[in-house]
Amino acid sequence: MRNRRELFRGIAISAALFVIALASYGVQQSLAQDTKAQSTIEKAFPSSSKCKRCHERVFEEWETSPLARSIHTPTFRAALDAYLASPAGKDKALCFRCHAPHVREFADHAQVFVTQAQSGEPSLDGVACAQCHLIKQVDRTKQPPEPKYELGNKTMYGPYKDAAQNLAHQSMESPLFRKSDLCLNCHQVVPAAAELGKSNDLLGNWDQSKAVKSGKECQTCHMPEQVGESANGEAKRKVANHTFPGRIGQLRQEAAKLEVTTKVEGEKTTVTVAVQSLVPHNLPTTHPGWASVVLDLDIKGKNLKTVFSEKRIYGRTYADAKGQKTVFDFEAIKVLEETVLKPEERRVETFTLPTPKDTKTFDVEAVLSYAPVTGPATFLQRIEAESSKGAQDPVFQAIPIAKFNENVPVAK
Ligand code: HEC
Ligand code: HEC
Ligand code: HEC
Ligand code: HEC
Ligand code: HEC
Repeated sequence: MRNRRELFRGIAISAALFVIALASYGVQQSLAQDTKAQSTIEKAFPSSSKCKRCHERVFEEWETSPLARSIHTPTFRAALDAYLASPAGKDKALCFRCHAPHVREFADHAQVFVTQAQSGEPSLDGVACAQCHLIKQVDRTKQPPEPKYELGNKTMYGPYKDAAQNLAHQSMESPLFRKSDLCLNCHQVVPAAAELGKSNDLLGNWDQSKAVKSGKECQTCHMPEQVGESANGEAKRKVANHTFPGRIGQLRQEAAKLEVTTKVEGEKTTVTVAVQSLVPHNLPTTHPGWASVVLDLDIKGKNLKTVFSEKRIYGRTYADAKGQKTVFDFEAIKVLEETVLKPEERRVETFTLPTPKDTKTFDVEAVLSYAPVTGPATFLQRIEAESSKGAQDPVFQAIPIAKFNENVPVAK
């Protein structure tokens, strides 16, 4: 009896081991395939670490930019999973068309990009050096505009016609690099929300703005000119800042101005806030779908206690096919409400409130900020779980843009 039981146990264990071996062989096979695919991809689009050797300044700037984290953030992972699980999610390459645009040349390997992003620590680049500097042309007749890559002849396109020779690559001047067109293929329209038609427009009437009419391109503000080495040890010349200032960086201080006037009329007080956008495109740009800017007005009365507080939200509210509100633009088929600040718009907001009681003065505080991420609870929990910082992840914090503070007397 005993022997037989042991025999059975022996067979069961061997069978289990065999299954494990088979599975791990399968995993190794697909890992090996992924590694092979990745090396093919990186032969065409050399990894940014290869450029670092000679372009240390540029690399260090880019490394701090959001572009360097385009497939790395917990929010991107959570949103990617929501997309892949949705009815729209059949096209695995879709998100990567802008977040890791070399997928365009490797449609068959879209799963490698997905697996890498989902790993949380992708070794594959997102929007890195070669992903921009191998672009030869942007076709603006397409919607969204399409980049045309020139691969295989080791030529880097850039702003200089007199680039010094080097052993790693040829250089070629391309006027595209000083033009907004280069940026538009990723920043103008999100193809996921194609059903939105004309309302699928992230920047608004940017080309009619005063700034753009006066000759400014995206690069003028988002890749400001500086003087430095373009490659290690080369002569100093005009170079472009690759930190891509946006929500992070100095540029934010040039985003908007607040003008506030307060009128006390007996029991009633009226606060008028004029929000002047200085941005030549929509503020915020409306992808991802939850992107919004908020104006908070707080009135503090006796003992600095808040006696009144109200907000205005600037963003876009989408509806899905069932008519429900959604923060996911890939599900959106309709815009329910549009309150985005248009290019260089001045928006006047009026707040009426009871004049604070039992005090000689009160404080008026107005703050304009980028709002934290919003969405279904499951989505927010997923971001929290994916982030090493948990609920402290930066996406859960507002980013202030402009502030106003004034102490107002109740009566003379
Ligand atoms: C291949 C697609 C692609 C191209 C081309 C591209 N971008 Fe972007 N850009 C992105 C993505 C994706 C992000 C968001 C990265 C993230 O936060 O995950 C981004 C983020 C940014 C940000 C930061 C925005 C913020 O909220 O702070 C700025 C600024 C920016 N890009 C400017 C530019 C400019 C200027 C150009 C043209 C010279 C350009 N981009 C070209 C894809 C692109
Ligand atoms: C047409 C290009 C394009 C496509 C396609 C696209 N994105 Fe983006 N995405 C961008 C750009 C540009 C930004 C930066 C916007 C900004 O900061 O104003 C961005 C920002 C984001 C952000 C916020 C930054 C971050 O990393 O946390 C998330 C999340 C995101 N995209 C998710 C997705 C998902 C999921 C998909 C696919 C369903 C997708 N995107 C498809 C261009 C694109
Ligand atoms: C989003 C697209 C984009 C990415 C990503 C990008 N660049 Fe650039 N790069 C540009 C543009 C546009 C210019 C020209 C800007 C100008 O002259 O106004 C430029 C200019 C340059 C120049 C010449 C000027 C200078 O600042 O030295 C070099 C060299 C360069 N890039 C290398 C790199 C390297 C290396 C990386 C990666 C670490 C990188 N770029 C990432 C778009 C990009
Ligand atoms: C062996 C050193 C070396 C390596 C590696 C290298 N570069 Fe360069 N690169 C240079 C030198 C030198 C210049 C010329 C700089 C100048 O004239 O100011 C240059 C110029 C450039 C320019 C400007 C071209 C123009 O005509 O405007 C770009 C863009 C560029 N490199 C991108 C890259 C990218 C992307 C990588 C990585 C895939 C890379 N480089 C790797 C040395 C190198
Ligand atoms: C006159 C300067 C100027 C020009 C030109 C300009 N921007 Fe901006 N942009 C700003 C300012 C100011 C902000 C708001 C402050 C901030 O967050 O950077 C901004 C914000 C952004 C953001 C982040 C906003 C968000 O809601 O997440 C993106 C992305 C962006 N710009 C892309 C572009 C692109 C693409 C172009 C070219 C079509 C462009 N910008 C042209 C000044 C400019």
